[in-house]
Amino acid sequence: MSNVVVITTSLRAKSNSDILAECLIAGAKDAGHNVEHISLKGKNIRFCIGCFYCHETHECALKDDALWIAAKIKNAETVVFVTPIYYYEMSGQMKTLLDRTNPLYLSDYKFRNVYMLSTATDDRECTPERAVNGLQGWLDCFEKAKLSGSLFCGGISGANEAAGKDAEKNKAYEFGRSLL
Ligand SMILES: Cc1cc2nc3c(=O)[nH]c(=O)nc-3n(C[C@H](O)[C@H](O)[C@H](O)COP(=O)(O)O)c2cc1C
Repeated sequence: MSNVVVITTSLRAKSNSDILAECLIAGAKDAGHNVEHISLKGKNIRFCIGCFYCHETHECALKDDALWIAAKIKNAETVVFVTPIYYYEMSGQMKTLLDRTNPLYLSDYKFRNVYMLSTATDDRECTPERAVNGLQGWLDCFEKAKLSGSLFCGGISGANEAAGKDAEKNKAYEFGRSLL
């Protein structure tokens, strides 16, 4: 059993990736994991200003919601990032959050297994490649952790469309069950 944090980054009402994340969470709970879900909706997360205050202090100079969310990431064993594909990349919200985890870089972070769940209108297999590579770039700097898996659910566009996609919801559930 692991302590899992699932971070959903779509800000859309009736978000498809949120719907799939709920299925993933159900699967992870059924597999016996402790799961905490954090949505970036309504959160105040400023852009990293690159001041490197964190390199000296291990704390961020910006005092907003990224502080406690980064602490949740730090202390989880497993982290799942959930993102809509925007311009064949991760959402800007997700990238902004990743940048704000810079204070964790020199810390005794606990996470070891990191996953991505993504969704997009395009259903080609290549659609999430840059988003996955982007997350891998973050992981290249957190050497004790690895990308343990990713699931892409394509062909989903309008708000709430994922609600009617039983096959995709089932894939997300099974993905949740398979988390380490
Ligand atoms: C700014 C923006 C950029 C997008 N870029 C892409 C894209 O490059 N490829 C694609 O297939 N879908 C793209 N989409 C569509 C979303 O990925 C799709 O609607 C997805 O289901 C949204 O997930 P959500 O409901 O969880 O936000 C884009 C949507 C937005 C708002």
